[in-house]
Amino acid sequence: MLWGVFSDVHSNFEALDAVLKALAKEGVKGWVCCGDVVGYGAQPNEVCERIATLKPLHVVSGNHDLAVAGKMDITWFNDYAQAAVMWSREVLKEPARRFLAALPDRVVADGFMVAHGSPRNPAEEYLLTRQQFLDNASLVKVAPCFVGHSHLTWCFTKDPASPLGTRALMLRDGQTISAPLGVSCIFNPGSVGQPRDHDSRASCGVYDDEKRTFRLLRVPYDIEKVQKAMREVALPELLVLRLSYGQ
Ligand SMILES: [Fe+2]
Ligand SMILES: [Fe+2]
Repeated sequence: MLWGVFSDVHSNFEALDAVLKALAKEGVKGWVCCGDVVGYGAQPNEVCERIATLKPLHVVSGNHDLAVAGKMDITWFNDYAQAAVMWSREVLKEPARRFLAALPDRVVADGFMVAHGSPRNPAEEYLLTRQQFLDNASLVKVAPCFVGHSHLTWCFTKDPASPLGTRALMLRDGQTISAPLGVSCIFNPGSVGQPRDHDSRASCGVYDDEKRTFRLLRVPYDIEKVQKAMREVALPELLVLRLSYGQ
C-alpha cells in the first residue's frame, strides 16, 4: 500500500490541495501528517477540515497546533510566529479547535511511527544531525519514523557499513530512499506550506510499505493566491514574502 506523507501545512490551503491531488494521482491510499497543521497561514479552519476528512489517516500534533489550541506556552516562539498563533486563535472555529486539541504527540501504527520533531521530544526538537538521529534511534518503535518540524527533507538511516554508522541525506524531488526491515530510520517529507530549502514548491513524499521505499515529491501551487489571502488578513509581511523564496 502507498501512503502519502506530508507535514507542516501551516494553514496553507492551496499548497495542501495541490499536494493531496498530486499524491492521489500517485495512487496513495493512506495518509500520514507529521504535525504543524496550522500557524503562519491564512486558512486554519479549511486546512483542519480537509485533513480531518482523509482516511485512513495518522496525524500528530506539532508545536504550532499545541500553541493555537492553547496547550503550549508561546513565549519561545519568534515575533512572527507569535503573531500568527494569536491571529489563528481568534479565527479558529470550534470543530478545528477540537481537532487540534485531540491530536496525539506520537503514533505507532501500520508498520511505521510518526512524531513531529523527533521521537524523544516531539514538540520541540529539530532533528538535523547524525548525533541527534543516533540519540533518537532506539526510540523508533517501528521504522521508518516520519517527522517534520525542520521543514527540511533530512533522512537518516542506520548503516553499519558507512564510516559514521549512519547515512544522512537531504532528499531532492524524485529521489528515493529505502527503509530496510529492522533498521532504524527517520524520514522528513519537508514542508507543504512553508518550505525552507530554497525550493518554493510544496514538499511531500510517498511511502511504499511493500517495497519499503520513500520517494520525495515537489508540487507547484499558486503562491501568489496564498500571499494575497495572507495580506488581506494582515499576517506579518515576512511570512508572506518567505513563501516566494522557499525560505
Ligand atoms: Fe513547522
Ligand atoms: Fe514545528
